[in-house]
Amino acid sequence: MKLRLSKPTRRQFITCAAFLFFGVFLLAYAVFIEPRQLVVQRQTIKLPHWSPALNHLKVAVITDLHVGCLSVPISKLRRVIVTTNEQKPDLIVMLGDFVASHGRSSALKPEEFAHELSALKAKYGVYAVLGNHDWWYNGEEVRNELQRANIHVIENASVQLKIDSASLWVAGLADQWTRTPSIPLAIKSVPVGSPCLMLMHEPDLLRDVPESISLSLAGHTHGGQVSLPIIGAPILPTDLGSKFARGLIVEGDKHYFVSSGVGTSVLPVRFGVPPEVCILDLISQ
Ligand SMILES: [Fe+2]
Repeated sequence: MKLRLSKPTRRQFITCAAFLFFGVFLLAYAVFIEPRQLVVQRQTIKLPHWSPALNHLKVAVITDLHVGCLSVPISKLRRVIVTTNEQKPDLIVMLGDFVASHGRSSALKPEEFAHELSALKAKYGVYAVLGNHDWWYNGEEVRNELQRANIHVIENASVQLKIDSASLWVAGLADQWTRTPSIPLAIKSVPVGSPCLMLMHEPDLLRDVPESISLSLAGHTHGGQVSLPIIGAPILPTDLGSKFARGLIVEGDKHYFVSSGVGTSVLPVRFGVPPEVCILDLISQ
């Protein structure tokens, strides 16, 4: 039997062309337009374990810069720094994945981007944890260069900040994919009930952080990089599910915040998840 294909009608041809054009437009938007944007996400968070003396502490969250990826050349990094400084944060926290590579080569060397990051300004300093991409590249080198740029890298440890008459602890976990994170070690020095921010790269340990910790922050998800209307993010690099893709998550007295960050990895696309710097206004409940 011979299969005969009928010639498409003019209407079918126009419909196919319209779909094709729309698909190409969406792809171009996801590769060339949205990843180059930068938005400031503001969020006021009421915390049960917080000191009124620390009310309205303004914390900037920067994560997943992936410096050197298609959408984050050095000029974009400078834009992130200027935008963050314009917000006049009291404290800046950085949640890892500074480098873009999946191995031991990187378009931009840590000393180059760390030199740029030394321009970040916050009254009480800049604190960071490293991510899986940093360790796949060379975590020791990334850490050393960041420390030289006055960015305090924390791994399974905590530091105490004196803020006027109050104390704030900033704890940080080791990267979960490449290192051995330890919550007990990270908060060993933190007196129970003291205001404390817990920094981590992957969000998977968020639920394991004790209730006494004021707020836990993570990156890594990129918000899925693609977030569709109704469906949300089809792919997420966390077992915790779409609830933990990005933003504020409250479970009882536990408060978590996940930022979708700035850069891209694997595919150079962002759709429905524009690059962001988050500004958190922290107050007591
Ligand atoms: Fe990551």
